Amino acid sequence: MGEQTGVSLINTLLGMKIDIHKRRPVLANNTGGLSGPAIKPVAVRMVYQVAQAVNIPVLGMGGIINGEDAIEFMLAGAKAISIGAGNFMNPYTSVNTVKEIEEYMKKYKIEDINEIVGTVEMN
Ligand SMILES: Cc1cc2nc3c(=O)[nH]c(=O)nc-3n(C[C@H](O)[C@H](O)[C@H](O)COP(=O)(O)O)c2cc1C
Repeated sequence: MGEQTGVSLINTLLGMKIDIHKRRPVLANNTGGLSGPAIKPVAVRMVYQVAQAVNIPVLGMGGIINGEDAIEFMLAGAKAISIGAGNFMNPYTSVNTVKEIEEYMKKYKIEDINEIVGTVEMN
């Protein structure tokens, strides 16, 4: 069997919400994991930096809710992506994302999605 090691990122970022009337944290555990679109810029930056630093496949996630988001992660260096919170926002998120990736591939005449992985050109 071949080498199957890879790395996935990012997990949630630790957040906190305070009930201003009770002056107490809303979450029973005081803090909790923040996921979804709010964390996407941090995730894209981290996927880019990690992809530059390792020679194993990177799976990117964190705020992906559509094909444009998925493509962004792939350009940053993700060979695969995953969707967590987006599925709670709309159960068709993953199916729609696949369709939108295919549309992007048609538009830019991309035959194999691997062609675009890590091809972002830095300013
Ligand atoms: C409901 C829920 C449960 C999760 N459970 C886990 C978990 O058990 N272990 C883990 O490492 N990450 C867990 N995560 C984090 C996700 O794997 C993912 O890294 C994070 O949510 C960012 O992606 P997203 O914005 O697409 O949700 C969970 C996320 C959500 C929304």
